[in-house]
Amino acid sequence: MEKSFKALRIIEEGDRYLRKIENRKVSDLPEGDTLIKVRYSSLNYKDALSSAGNKGVTRNYPHTPGIDAAGTIVTSSEKTFSEGEEVIVTGYDLGMNTEGGFGEYIRVPSKWVVKKPEGLNLKESMIYGTAGFTAALSVYKLTETVDKDAGEILITGGTGGVANIASKILVKLGYDVVVATGKVDSQKEELLKLGVKSVISRKEIQDEKGKAMLKSRWAGVIDTVGGATLGDVIKSVNYNGAVTTCGNVGGDKFESSVYPFILRGVTLYGIDSVQCPMDLRLKIWEKLAGPWKAENLQEMISIVKLEELEQKIDEMLAGKKAGRIILTHE
Ligand SMILES: NC(=O)c1ccc[n+]([C@@H]2O[C@H](COP(=O)([O-])OP(=O)(O)OC[C@H]3O[C@@H](n4cnc5c(N)ncnc54)[C@H](OP(=O)(O)O)[C@@H]3O)[C@@H](O)[C@H]2O)c1
Repeated sequence: MEKSFKALRIIEEGDRYLRKIENRKVSDLPEGDTLIKVRYSSLNYKDALSSAGNKGVTRNYPHTPGIDAAGTIVTSSEKTFSEGEEVIVTGYDLGMNTEGGFGEYIRVPSKWVVKKPEGLNLKESMIYGTAGFTAALSVYKLTETVDKDAGEILITGGTGGVANIASKILVKLGYDVVVATGKVDSQKEELLKLGVKSVISRKEIQDEKGKAMLKSRWAGVIDTVGGATLGDVIKSVNYNGAVTTCGNVGGDKFESSVYPFILRGVTLYGIDSVQCPMDLRLKIWEKLAGPWKAENLQEMISIVKLEELEQKIDEMLAGKKAGRIILTHE
């Protein structure tokens, strides 16, 4: 008899989007040469948007979200994968318009699949997930240009998933990290536990006067916020410093003059985890599993079952999320 499995489905009904755990068949899954039994996934903001009917993320419903998945190979036409082998899929179209990790099985092209590196188990790989991968990619780019003795590194959106992991990695690598947050009163102590040098208010990095350049302050910046914040921080970067940009929670437009670039030689790196080429993707996962691995990975998570996921999606959409949410299909 054909295998059936559970998945959290988002169903479009008029202008409402309903969530329902349904039984699916493997033959319902999209085309693809690799079938994976998913053991863990994680909840990202993009999944919450997909669950809420955001057509910029997911065009067609019904749909199974889940941009991250870790599990074992069931079948693959790619000879280098064997049955039962542990693998990770993040990015590409997973969970967007391809059924994702909120189902117990996914079927995807083998070129999306990463062999799980030694040094990480499947659960740990999902504690990182897309947020951790993006953080590591940002650190990788920044540290190409900025040496650890060059000065302080600013990380914006401090309490967010990407910022949190980027802070841990940079502290581990011996950088002096300053975190900017909108929640300095309530979260300062928690953020200091990451080992960062100081925690400052988001307001402190805002440029109220609209100057073209500000006093040099940062050797580098990992910006996870975008919008006006990105334009402001670029003005304070030291000579030959660098900024990475990965997010748009603070807006998708920023203003800048050319002066930080032509007078201070500042480099701006765009960070994309979705289409990141496979050779770099593998390199980043190896770093997360080895020299960059955080000691206290299990501390920042809650593990939920499919039945509990709906409530977590609502909390994320209401801005009440704290820490990473890991979905187990075990
Ligand atoms: N490029 C890629 O491939 C890629 C991959 C993953 C994620 N992303 C993007 O990267 C960004 C960060 O992701 P994440 O997972 O870390 O998100 P997250 O966990 O939701 O954290 C974002 C943080 O940004 C700050 N923030 C929220 N709204 C803000 C506003 N209006 N102005 C300024 N700061 C604000 C908050 O931190 P404080 O309150 O502490 O300031 C919040 O915790 C998102 O935009 C996400 O879509 C991009």
